[in-house]
Amino acid sequence: MEILVVGGAGYIGSFVSRMLLAEGYRPTVLDNLSLGHRAALDPRIPLVTGDLADGGLLQRLFSDRRFDAVMHFAALASVAESVQAPLTYYRNNVANTLNLLAAMKNAGVARFIFSSSAAIFGTPERIPIDETHPARPINPYGRSKLMVEEILRDAAAAGDLQSVALRYFNAAGASPDGRMGEDHRCETHLIPLVLKAVLGGAKSGARLKVFGTDYPTPDGTCVRDYIHVSDLARAHLLAADYLSAGGASAAFNLGNGKGFSVMEVIRTAEKVTGRAVAFETADRRAGDPAVLVAAADRISRELGWQPAYPTLEAIIETAWKWHASHPDGYAASQTGPQD
Ligand SMILES: NC(=O)c1ccc[n+]([C@@H]2O[C@H](COP(=O)([O-])OP(=O)(O)OC[C@H]3O[C@@H](n4cnc5c(N)ncnc54)[C@H](O)[C@@H]3O)[C@@H](O)[C@H]2O)c1
Repeated sequence: MEILVVGGAGYIGSFVSRMLLAEGYRPTVLDNLSLGHRAALDPRIPLVTGDLADGGLLQRLFSDRRFDAVMHFAALASVAESVQAPLTYYRNNVANTLNLLAAMKNAGVARFIFSSSAAIFGTPERIPIDETHPARPINPYGRSKLMVEEILRDAAAAGDLQSVALRYFNAAGASPDGRMGEDHRCETHLIPLVLKAVLGGAKSGARLKVFGTDYPTPDGTCVRDYIHVSDLARAHLLAADYLSAGGASAAFNLGNGKGFSVMEVIRTAEKVTGRAVAFETADRRAGDPAVLVAAADRISRELGWQPAYPTLEAIIETAWKWHASHPDGYAASQTGPQD
C-alpha cells in the first residue's frame, strides 16, 4: 500500500512512517520541517520537503504517485499558542487540511486517516470519555481539530472519501532502543519536561512547574491518559487496513484507558531514573481539565487495537532511554535511525 504521510518528520508521524516501512507498506513523507526533523526519518523513506499551503506542490505530488491512502499528522498543536494566535492555527490546521483534501479529491485518492485530539471534548462531563461524549472544545486548537472532523463527516456523506479520525490522548514514550523519541522545539508535554528536569535540573537549577495542586483528584494534581507512541502508530496501520477493506468512516478515541496524576508521573520517573525530580508548584492554568481519560473500547472492538505498553512505567522507561542518550534531541544526528 502506497501511503502519503503528511507531517511524517514529526514525533508521531516519524514512528508511523517507520512502522509502515517495517511492515511492508510504502510510505512517502511530506513535511515542511518547520517542527519536524529530517534525522527522525529512516533514510529509506522518501521525503518531500514542502508545505501543505503549496497547492502546486500537492498537485504534482498526487500526479507523480498513486497513493492508496493519506495519513495527516501536520498541524500546530499547542493549546496555549492557539489561544494567542488563533488565525495561524485555523490556517494551518483547517485551511491547509482543505488544500490536502482537495488535492486528494482531484487525484481520486479517497482514504484518509486524521490525527484528531482529546482536545475536541473540552471539559469532560464524565470519565472515561467514549465516542458518545459531547464534543465541546474550549480552545482554538481543539476547535480546529473538531472542524476538520466535521469536514470529514460531510465529505464522507457526499461520497468524496472514507476517513478514520483518531482522537489521541497524551502521546508519550520513545523507541525501546532509545534511538527515536520526542523532540518538540517548544516542549509542553509532561513526560519530556519531567525527564529534562531530571537531566538538567542539577546543573541549571531548572525546575519543573506543577500547575494546580487543588484539583478534585486523589493527590490534587491533574490526571491524564498516556499512550505510547508505538501503540498510536499501530492504530494507524489498523485504520489503513480497515479502510482498504471497505470500512465506513469513523472516529475513535485512543488512549490507554488509565489515568495518572502529575505527581504519579513524577514519582514513576524518579523510580525509573533513580534520580530526584526538582519541581515547584504553581497555580492552575486556565483551561486544564482535572481529568482526561479515554475509553478506547470501540477501537479495540472494531479494529482489534490493543496497547503493547499499558503501564506508565514501561512508557517512561522508553522515554528515559531516549532523553538520556539524546539530551539535545535530534540536533546531533546527521542521519535517521537505522535498523
Ligand atoms: N503529541 C500529542 O500528544 C498529540 C495529542 C493529540 C493530538 N496530536 C496531533 O497529532 C499530530 C502529530 O503530533 P506530533 O506531536 O507528532 O507533532 P509534531 O509537531 O512533532 O509533528 C507535526 C509535523 O507536521 C509538520 N508540519 C506542520 N505544518 C505543516 C505544513 N503546513 N506543511 C507541511 N508540514 C507541516 C511539522 O514540521 C512536523 O514535522 C498533530 O496533528 C497533533 O495535533 C498530538
